[in-house]
Amino acid sequence: MKRVSSQKPQSMIVQPCFIVGTYNDDGSPNFAPITWISVTVDNDGESYMLVLSTGAKRTGANLAARGIFSANLASVDMLGLVDYFGSRSGSDGPKNAIHYEYENGQFLKVPTLNQSRWVYECEVVKVVNTAPDTNTYFARIVNTQVPEEYSGSGNFDVDLVSLDPVVYSGTYHSIARNLGGIGDFMPPDC
Ligand SMILES: Cc1cc2nc3c(=O)[nH]c(=O)nc-3n(C[C@H](O)[C@H](O)[C@H](O)COP(=O)(O)O)c2cc1C
Repeated sequence: MKRVSSQKPQSMIVQPCFIVGTYNDDGSPNFAPITWISVTVDNDGESYMLVLSTGAKRTGANLAARGIFSANLASVDMLGLVDYFGSRSGSDGPKNAIHYEYENGQFLKVPTLNQSRWVYECEVVKVVNTAPDTNTYFARIVNTQVPEEYSGSGNFDVDLVSLDPVVYSGTYHSIARNLGGIGDFMPPDC
């Protein structure tokens, strides 16, 4: 394999796809897919914060107004919602042309998607303006809703194949194989 250099920005991104839920000023829910999303460690050294970036959108305005949101993992069966929510802005009216069900979070008053298998309820603790129209939000994960079979399992003990998340890299991908854990591939004599 031969690599070639390029000075033009070329991105190769591997991002999870979450659908972020916020409430509008009139109390209606708003959902938008966000793939600029990651986790980092919280300042207690043990819990996690979500880190997400969004531009001047309804989601950004709702985050600025209320500082709380849900992040709903998008699985492959939710791609219709991803495409629809991602091609309309809540600023132009409610995104009601597609059927979906939602309910309030279990700890925070945020709209959560019933179809999602993994849901974070989050509270923004820090905002960094990273581009003229873009803010990056650091948010404490106040509650995580996981499938029953994951209850009590370790933080990293998650089988992505069964969760079937959408992975975004310019186009949508899915995950085919679970390869094993850290240490399973240690070469002999190392
Ligand atoms: C797959 C996908 C990923 C996206 N990721 C982001 C993102 O990380 N940040 C962002 O600001 N917008 C992202 N968008 C665009 C927003 O979802 C889109 O602009 C949406 O209409 C915003 O809705 P709102 O104005 O109701 O917040 C993404 C869209 C798609 C389809």
